Amino acid sequence: MAYSKEVFDAAMRRLEQRRQQTDAETDRTRAELYTHIPRLREIQDELAGTAVNAVREMLAGGDTAANMERLKKINLNLQAERAELLTANGLPPDMMTPKRYCRQCDDTGYVGDRVCDCLRTLLREEACKRANSGSPLPLRAFDTFDLSYYPDTPLPGADTTVRAYMGRVFAYCKQYTEQFSPTTSPSLLFLGGTGLGKTHLALAVANEVLGRGFSVIYDTAQNIFSKIEDEHFGRGEQNFTQTVYDCDLLILDELPDYATSFTNSTFYNIINTRTLAHRPAIVSTNLTEKELEARYGQKIFSRLIGDFWMFKFFGRDIRQLKLKKNIF
Ligand SMILES: Nc1ncnc2c1ncn2[C@@H]1O[C@H](COP(=O)(O)OP(=O)(O)OP(=O)(O)O)[C@@H](O)[C@H]1O
Ligand SMILES: [Mg+2]
Ligand SMILES: [Zn+2]
Repeated sequence: MAYSKEVFDAAMRRLEQRRQQTDAETDRTRAELYTHIPRLREIQDELAGTAVNAVREMLAGGDTAANMERLKKINLNLQAERAELLTANGLPPDMMTPKRYCRQCDDTGYVGDRVCDCLRTLLREEACKRANSGSPLPLRAFDTFDLSYYPDTPLPGADTTVRAYMGRVFAYCKQYTEQFSPTTSPSLLFLGGTGLGKTHLALAVANEVLGRGFSVIYDTAQNIFSKIEDEHFGRGEQNFTQTVYDCDLLILDELPDYATSFTNSTFYNIINTRTLAHRPAIVSTNLTEKELEARYGQKIFSRLIGDFWMFKFFGRDIRQLKLKKNIF
């Protein structure tokens, strides 16, 4: 996908930071080694010297191939000596080679003229950061999710209690997060009345998945639809729509209970594009199944029912329960 210059520059700056960081580490390691094994410094200088000579030979013309071959041999001998010295001192033979985050591209971001996976990841992360307005997600965690707010009363039509059932929903979300994969995890639909913990659980998933290095966009559905509308009419941030389609996990919280034709087609495009690409989303709403079908139409409804795993939330409004606890 095409990224804005801003996103691209930010990703390249992070690659540059990685290189600087690993270079600084390498310099420190080398300086330390030189004080203990001075021959290593000489070897390093000689290696640098052969590199300069190689360039000089090339510029001077003459029997370049033979000279290059000779320099290459000297180089290999020096490298072998360096490795032996290190090994003899009980150190890893590659200890002086700069450590890189990415072995595939040596932190350059490119393998030949192909964009490396590590740069792709950085681009996605930077695009998501901007899409989330650069602000950290409100923190809701699994360990502050308290099951005792759910009543220990029978769950209508089932052989279990509301609390035990919500415990299973909670356990599923936790496991979902631990096993999260941007290509195989299913999409989830959270249905239920106000204050039952839908946003709390969705945010706990988002924060954990983010923490594991995946790109996540979280916002209310309404905000996401408006930003897409802004971009569509040339007002807002560029690439937002594409980022919503591409991020590893998309969370559309609080699906509005009315749909305009624009939000309707936007919502359809989002779930359709992501489903086709097997990219997961979590959608939460106060609407019942019947209301969803009535407000959003058959086309969207059948996608949601067919492609999402549905979780119904039960219990009493936890916002109210917490308020009462604080008052009394
Ligand atoms: N199981 C829980 N343990 C502790 N706090 C909870 C729990 N569930 C919800 N809360 C808290 O109660 C408040 C309301 O929960 P939340 O926002 O998740 O509800 P919701 O289902 O998203 O409601 P709405 O449909 O109105 O958006 C939040 O402050 C949340 O942190
Ligand atoms: Mg909510
Ligand atoms: Zn790479």
